[in-house]
Amino acid sequence: MIKKYLSSPGIPHTGFDTYVEPFFGAGAMMIYVHENCPDVKKFVINDVNPYLIGIYNAIKNDVDNFTGRMNDLESQYLPLKRDGSEEIATLALEGEEWSNKEVILERKFDSERKSFYKELLKEYITDWKKWDSTTESATLYFLMKTGFNGIWQKTEESGDRFATPAGLLNQKDRVYDYDNVMKWHSFLQKVDIHCGDWLDCMNKISPTEKSFLFADPPYRDSFTSYEQDFGDEEHSKLINFCEKFSKNNTVFLCNRDDGGDFFSSRVNDLSISKYDVTYTAGRRQDKKKNLSKLESRRKVLEKKKAMNEKKRKALEDRATLFEKKNKKISGLENKRSALEEKREELQLKLKEVNAEIKKMTNNQNFEAKKATEVLLHNFSERKE
Ligand SMILES: C[S@@+](CC[C@H](N)C(=O)[O-])C[C@H]1O[C@@H](n2cnc3c(N)ncnc32)[C@H](O)[C@@H]1O
Repeated sequence: MIKKYLSSPGIPHTGFDTYVEPFFGAGAMMIYVHENCPDVKKFVINDVNPYLIGIYNAIKNDVDNFTGRMNDLESQYLPLKRDGSEEIATLALEGEEWSNKEVILERKFDSERKSFYKELLKEYITDWKKWDSTTESATLYFLMKTGFNGIWQKTEESGDRFATPAGLLNQKDRVYDYDNVMKWHSFLQKVDIHCGDWLDCMNKISPTEKSFLFADPPYRDSFTSYEQDFGDEEHSKLINFCEKFSKNNTVFLCNRDDGGDFFSSRVNDLSISKYDVTYTAGRRQDKKKNLSKLESRRKVLEKKKAMNEKKRKALEDRATLFEKKNKKISGLENKRSALEEKREELQLKLKEVNAEIKKMTNNQNFEAKKATEVLLHNFSERKE
């Protein structure tokens, strides 16, 4: 895009000594100005996103620790495998009728790199307070380099912190460009870094009359890759500001053309140039590649669907088996309590019989004693 702006209307290389970029993002234009506009002595950048600005501050003021953290994460990450592994688990179900039944369960695991990314992202979202600001910013930079390119996704858990899912994770020898970071480090020494709303920044810096204002706000009516709210009222305010500011300064204001007259009806003395562009979210467009990607994605989804069907069937089978087992168990339970009752009954009877036996034995002994006594008596009677 910058190339298109440069070719037409082109950027004047002289006539300003200050460069201001209040919606900085990745700051593509500033580098061009830095390298091609020798009169510029002062650079001012601003963005409302404190995490992005944190990265620039860390690179400017603490680059050794910043690259140290990057190198550390990079050396942990690069040796990890990129491909996910699959495990096939055979689960033999138990049960009389089911002794021969086997269910194949397939499980897909995240690749080592993906697990690493997910763990780091989780740490970044939930456990970042343990880090100093440079470690936190370098971690974010690492995640942005390995995450899904160009998107700042947030989640309920992350609040306004970066929570973009992993990207392709196909880095070969390096995750980031050390020399480029060092180039930014030396360049940022000339730069005043601000963090906040664009208008607050403009009011604070009160630029000279020889400034170049490059304003590249979130696009109108777009899903913004930076997830900031910037409505029509804000856009109108910015256009008005640029219009006034352009009287004594150079101004570039970029946005997306929605085909209506939103911009043309507001620009007054500003001129409009239009360019054809193709937006891609995250990855370069390559129709063939995209098609084959979609095709293989379809196949993967179909495979997953079949696998889920298999799993569902297996779970249903298990449920039926458990139901049967349950029925059997409750039958046995009933039997057990009936037997339990019988046992108690028999125990009572046994007690009664024992008591009877005891009674009878006592009577017999009594009779026997009596008989002996009689005999003895008779015997002694005879003796006399
Ligand atoms: C389209 S991007 C800028 C792209 C940038 N030119 C580049 O090369 O990457 C818009 C930027 O504006 C920032 N932004 C959104 N609302 C803002 C506001 N009210 N004040 C300042 N910056 C804001 C976003 O955080 C985002 O970085």
